[in-house]
Amino acid sequence: MRIGVDYYPEQWDKSLWRKDAELMAETGVSIVRLAEFAWSRLEPEEGSFDFSWLDEAVQIFSENGIEVVLCTPTNCPPLWLYEKHPEIIQTGADGRRIQIGIRGHRCINSSVFLEYAKRITDEMTRHYSGNSSVIAWQIDNELEAYPCCCEECRADFRNWLIEKYGTVDNINKAFGNSVWSGEYSSITQIQPPSAYPKAWQNPALCLDYWRFTSGCTAEYVRLLSSVIRKNCPGIQITTNTWFCENMPDLYDMFSELDFVSYDNYPPVRIPKNPDEFYSHAFHLDFMRGIKQQNFWIMEQLSGLTGSWAPMAPTPRPGQIKGYALQAIAHGADTVVHFRWRTAITGAEMHWHGILDHSGALNRRYSEFRELCKILPKLEPVNGAEIYSETAILYSPESECAFKIQPQTDGFYYLEQMKYFHAAFTKYGANIDVISSEADLSRYKIVIAPSLYVNNEQVTKKLKRYVSEGGTLVMTCRSGVKDENNNCIMDALPAVFKELVGAEVVEYDPIGWSEQSVAANDGKAFSCKQWCDVLKLNTAESLAEYADSFYKGAPAVTVNKYGRGTAYYIGTVGKMDFYEDFAGKIMEQCGLSKLDGLPTGTEITTRTDGECDYIFIFNNSENDVEINLPETMYSLMDSADKEKVKLKPFEMDVLRK
Ligand code: GAL
Repeated sequence: MRIGVDYYPEQWDKSLWRKDAELMAETGVSIVRLAEFAWSRLEPEEGSFDFSWLDEAVQIFSENGIEVVLCTPTNCPPLWLYEKHPEIIQTGADGRRIQIGIRGHRCINSSVFLEYAKRITDEMTRHYSGNSSVIAWQIDNELEAYPCCCEECRADFRNWLIEKYGTVDNINKAFGNSVWSGEYSSITQIQPPSAYPKAWQNPALCLDYWRFTSGCTAEYVRLLSSVIRKNCPGIQITTNTWFCENMPDLYDMFSELDFVSYDNYPPVRIPKNPDEFYSHAFHLDFMRGIKQQNFWIMEQLSGLTGSWAPMAPTPRPGQIKGYALQAIAHGADTVVHFRWRTAITGAEMHWHGILDHSGALNRRYSEFRELCKILPKLEPVNGAEIYSETAILYSPESECAFKIQPQTDGFYYLEQMKYFHAAFTKYGANIDVISSEADLSRYKIVIAPSLYVNNEQVTKKLKRYVSEGGTLVMTCRSGVKDENNNCIMDALPAVFKELVGAEVVEYDPIGWSEQSVAANDGKAFSCKQWCDVLKLNTAESLAEYADSFYKGAPAVTVNKYGRGTAYYIGTVGKMDFYEDFAGKIMEQCGLSKLDGLPTGTEITTRTDGECDYIFIFNNSENDVEINLPETMYSLMDSADKEKVKLKPFEMDVLRK
């Protein structure tokens, strides 16, 4: 396990490098990430490479016992390259090349750019091949499935469609192009969905365009990783990702990389309203679920954020240390903090690192140092993994389709997942967030919210999972679209009708307004956004709408299917609904459950097969106290305990 920092030697006077490395080493930093934006220093002129300054920096870190992650600097081509080849610049939906002078504006499909990107990657990886200080490579930086509309992307998209569908006629059929005279009579008429307003464009075209751009991102990663693997056999390769607007299919993008790394910037304000609160742990579990293995944080919150947005409040005492440990609790093995020093120049000078502009050893530094000093105590946890009995399924295609066509005010695909995640967290359960295509056999409970775009394999797998005894939870807006993002001519949830034993006779997108639902056990809940009015086929009703013209119609149902059980929630509740629901199904499925945990307490267990390591995190601004069911050994305090007392954002780790 390692704590590290992101460092930018190219932004600082050389005289600082050694001082910084020495202080890092003394603080307990054991890894640095370098060079993801430094192309202009590494290839100052076309074909003339200068690695001498980076060699010196790597050497200084190495002399201080600090290992290095190097990056392909491909996010920021130098200006001479743009000047010589303006065609490598991304083109916006309006057909205009975007302004250069910032970063990330290269088109990753441009064959010219790719030649230069391969060359710098090749030169750099050959140069550092065999350097024992370099332990991993990061490809580029925060790659997005950017919807570039340059001539090359347009042509590639057309070819991609022809490869997928064979003929223009087949494309017309798949897209339903008879609407609005949208039929292509020649391939040259096919354009990316760049017209305005976006919401009026063909959803089938939009989904395929995303599939294309997402596939290009994954292809780019594969291309650069093959260059790295050729020159540095055996080295670990990753790319750093985040939850961005143009999210690629992360399962695909990471498929040939060795590990996932995530840029983790949890919000520092804890909302008072429990309904607004979800833990950032959802994102951590999501990242672990991409490859279903432990992961890294490549950028971790270190100071107050801002720059392109007004500055946000500074991390509260405990958060620098606590949020890094929270990541470890969810399967991170290395946490690299962004960044050691706050930039004094450039657009990002208000996005704070550990040290402020002055370089003084501040409050955040002290906390960061404490974190580094804790790490040796966690050595026994090294390599231990997280096993969950509950999984939440995520479908990148459904998320994309919901972005293309918003369903109702306030409806947001990840929201229900966050609710479910928070509900299971309340009972101290480990939870996986995994691809809807992943194997489900190890899970007792599978939650599949709003599986909107049909995927035949997934549908078959879910049916098999339930018929073999699994417990599945589905929700509204499932089974709505076929693979082409066109509506299915059937009562909803269409392909899942038989599985859930109920069908939708009418739906009501109520948006921001709230209604109520009465459960069979006498409890009442608010619901919002969407109401599926259900008709029971083989299912039983668990809760009914309590108002509107469909008062008395089922809102939540349960169905026996083969040896298993399928629940259907036809609406979107609030936190209390999900907590109640999760509690009940955990009991029914025989999952162990902790009741009465203080608000904000997050418990996860990592296991190495011999010992369980129980992480108890206080993600709240209050002190909490938890009585343990038996005496346990605390790795943090090196002592046996019967009770855990935690200050705000404090973590304890117990061995069982
Ligand atoms: C990330 C990015 C970093 C830095 C950071 C803070 O998205 O990878 O380079 O910009 O955000 O703004």
